[in-house]
Amino acid sequence: MADTIDPKLVPKRSLASGETIPCIGLGTFGSDRYSPEEVSAAVSGAIRVGYRLFDCASVYGNEAFIGEVFDKAFKSGTVKREELFINSKVWNNMYGKGNVLLSLAKTLKDLRLDYLDSYMVHWPFPNYHAPGCDGDARNPDSKPFSVERFMGVWQQMERIVDRGLARYIGMSNMTIPKLKAVLSLCRIQPAMIEMEMHPAFQQPELYQYCVDRKILVIGFCPLGSPNRPDRDKAPGDVVDTEIPEVAAAAKAHGIHPALVCLKWAAQRGQVPIPLSVHEKNYLANLRCVTEDPLTDAEMAAIAKADKNCRLIKGQVFLWEGAKGWEDLWDLDGKITAG
Ligand SMILES: NC(=O)c1ccc[n+]([C@@H]2O[C@H](COP(=O)([O-])OP(=O)(O)OC[C@H]3O[C@@H](n4cnc5c(N)ncnc54)[C@H](OP(=O)(O)O)[C@@H]3O)[C@@H](O)[C@H]2O)c1
Repeated sequence: MADTIDPKLVPKRSLASGETIPCIGLGTFGSDRYSPEEVSAAVSGAIRVGYRLFDCASVYGNEAFIGEVFDKAFKSGTVKREELFINSKVWNNMYGKGNVLLSLAKTLKDLRLDYLDSYMVHWPFPNYHAPGCDGDARNPDSKPFSVERFMGVWQQMERIVDRGLARYIGMSNMTIPKLKAVLSLCRIQPAMIEMEMHPAFQQPELYQYCVDRKILVIGFCPLGSPNRPDRDKAPGDVVDTEIPEVAAAAKAHGIHPALVCLKWAAQRGQVPIPLSVHEKNYLANLRCVTEDPLTDAEMAAIAKADKNCRLIKGQVFLWEGAKGWEDLWDLDGKITAG
């Protein structure tokens, strides 16, 4: 079997602008387990095997390593800059006035780029946690979501587009109530929204809300992030690859259940961004969206298998007085205030 995939064979998804991007990308969060060297080696291998979309973030602590890989790939002629679609995200401690541009400048320097394809607001509030913290960690400065504060960040994002430093801007970890509160205030609409999305957590209402507004959904943890940080593991979390409907499709197609999760994601329409540091896995992940699709019946069975099981609950972002992680996600349809 070929050990590369022609990027032209990878199906594409459309942005509202009409531009298309690959229907799958490579994630780069090492989950506090994989070193920057391991993740950047995966980026290098992924470019070689045919990936053209990469999901980065300053908080992943590996952009300088990934930048070396991009630089080498461009200089060696392996790929041209304009053939890659590169996302990054501003981390929660850089939302103050003027800081978004500073954060972007560091990301561009680290990634050794003149511009990003997309820059996203990583979380919709300025709350941050120390790298590698445990699940009980709380930052005393954490605050609930505020439209005014969020728009202060978004206006800085819009100026980044004005200056040509990012071609698109996006949001991440949003809810419908928060989107309802901010979208009409945005001079530049988000081109994409990144959200947790896997068979056990399909977020059908939020997904449709974005589709209806031509906002492309990027799905993170598409395999249920089996190696996620310990702070993001909780009793009762569903293992996607063990869901009977996923396992049955895997058996029928003679493939690993992880590949069923990716086929389901790509066929539904969101753009999954799985990470693997192993070539065998990231090559299989890319290949699987180019061949042997799931049947309509398999797609329908997996749609019905949604467990509404959020894995990245975000409890480390809670503010003083918050009741629990549910407060971050506006479950009763209203923005939870402090
Ligand atoms: N916006 C946000 O707030 C946010 C939050 C979380 C994640 N993300 C992004 O989403 C990306 C993906 O999420 P994630 O990395 O947490 O989870 P994931 O992609 O669901 O799962 C990654 C894990 O699955 C394993 N894996 C990959 N391909 C496999 C295959 N074919 N067969 C078996 N196992 C396989 C990998 O292990 P091996 O390396 O051993 O193959 C890796 O540990 C991140 O890297 C990051 O870019 C964004």
